[in-house]
Amino acid sequence: MIPNLCEKIIFKFPWYIVIKKLFLNFFNTLLFLIFLSLTHVNADELFNKGKEVFLGAGNCAACHMLSDAGSNAMVGPNLNEIRPDIQRIIMAVRNGIGVMPAMEGILTDEEIEAVAHYTSIAAEQ
Ligand code: HEC
Repeated sequence: MIPNLCEKIIFKFPWYIVIKKLFLNFFNTLLFLIFLSLTHVNADELFNKGKEVFLGAGNCAACHMLSDAGSNAMVGPNLNEIRPDIQRIIMAVRNGIGVMPAMEGILTDEEIEAVAHYTSIAAEQ
């Protein structure tokens, strides 16, 4: 009875399915890791581009304090204190608010997206 059962498990069980599953799992994990590293690189690029805009074309550093950007200006609110989320930054940058000039037309949509991405992350630190 028992040797018979062993024989069944070893010879009748479709091991190729297990091996195939293991292989597919391994393959999927690999793809997932590649995907993760690619999106990570992209996120870093957006962050760096946003920092460039913050210090350069957007001129944000002339008015705002943000420690990651090394800026100490106090015309506008300290971004490390108000910790604005992406939507709030996009609104302020596109349309302007109070003394802050609207940047729509001055910055491209990509630059606004990048600077909002950068500022929202940098402000949390
Ligand atoms: C000329 C100075 C100036 C520049 C340049 C400037 N800001 Fe501002 N910013 C201000 C002032 C002043 C306020 C406060 C406005 C108010 O509440 O009346 C403000 C407010 C903000 C707010 C808060 C908005 C809210 O909803 O309360 C964010 C976020 C912001 N700025 C981000 C930026 C970014 C990002 C840039 C660069 C693209 C930038 N600012 C460029 C002066 C400036």
